[in-house]
Amino acid sequence: MDPSVDHLTVLGIETSCDETAAAIVSWSAERGAEIRSDVVLSQIADHAAFGGVVPEIAARAHVEALDGIIAAALTQAQTALDDVDAVAVTAGPGLIGGLIVGLMTAKAIAAAARKPLIPVNHLEGHALTARLTGDARQFPYLLLLVSGGHTQVVLVRGVSDYVRWGTTIDDALGEAFDKTAKLLGLPYPGGPNVERAAAFGDAGRFAFPRPLKGETRPDFSFSGLKTAVRQAASAIAPLGDGDIADICASFQRAVVLTLQDRVALSLDRFRREFPGLGDPVLVVAGGVAANAAIRSMLEQLCADRGFRFAAPPLNLCTDNGAMIAWAGIERIRAGMVSGDSMHFEPRARWPLDTAAAPRIGAGRRGMKA
Ligand code: KG4
Ligand code: ZN
Repeated sequence: MDPSVDHLTVLGIETSCDETAAAIVSWSAERGAEIRSDVVLSQIADHAAFGGVVPEIAARAHVEALDGIIAAALTQAQTALDDVDAVAVTAGPGLIGGLIVGLMTAKAIAAAARKPLIPVNHLEGHALTARLTGDARQFPYLLLLVSGGHTQVVLVRGVSDYVRWGTTIDDALGEAFDKTAKLLGLPYPGGPNVERAAAFGDAGRFAFPRPLKGETRPDFSFSGLKTAVRQAASAIAPLGDGDIADICASFQRAVVLTLQDRVALSLDRFRREFPGLGDPVLVVAGGVAANAAIRSMLEQLCADRGFRFAAPPLNLCTDNGAMIAWAGIERIRAGMVSGDSMHFEPRARWPLDTAAAPRIGAGRRGMKA
């Protein structure tokens, strides 16, 4: 596609985990980016009884909902497929069943409407959202992605140009919140419930470990923390509400201190690598970014080190179609869309930084290798 066009409209489709989402995003040289519709159907209720995302249930739910969600996105944007310039779709990483549903649907639409198909890496969607919202205008910037499936620090150097500085070597942070909640009998998704309980608890009651503290790579590990929580809980069982609150508060404190240590390392490295850069930015993405204790720690850390803390609105931090449509627009404008993607296969694993060494266990939930 011609990268020099002065306006674009892209349909974005996202089905890599437990949100069925579609959006219409436009961009013009004159007016910049505009989210014209952003429809997200969460499957939380479908998975709640199981305490986590069940891949087979997720894939079936995407099949049932996706057509209607795409139709709603077009209607809300008051547009038709004819007026769309391209179809962007998450092609990985994620749960393979959901990816197949999204990619096949996008291929069918692209073929029928004779539009280019743009396979998008889900993580690139998260990484570029800050440019959709105007929170980051220049490259490079730092991204902290903390969701149910990912925990990464990524240097964003440009479109399709990422360096992964750190990742989890076992559980993702959201997963650690969810597992802790399940262990304590709190409902799914665990994050908000652990945060709520923590507000009434004593964070000093349990000294939970701070994994990888002192390591010079900003990697993460949360499975030891989860084990420590399990041991503490079984040592004092049966648990009263006060015990649960104390465990949640102590767990959250351990998480905050761990993140603080890892992110501080990353900010310092960024400063060393880009000493002359004005307006250095840390962008946060992923559902865990909703956590107020984590947010205020990050805000303070950035303030102390002269970084701007950019947190896009929460509905754009979590999985959505607008970030996929926007990544499509970015790729067109960067001259990266050739129009011959119809044979692209979905990828359960698809690192953003292909040069980064794989980390054992650092995958999406539901597909531990
Ligand atoms: O980005 P997201 O909506 O979905 C994917 O993982 O793809 O993130 C969901 C995760 C869940 O693990 C959930 O427990 C966590 O984000 N989460 C939170 C909070 N709200 C959501 N974790 C901690 N504190 C919260 N307030
Ligand atoms: Zn995501």
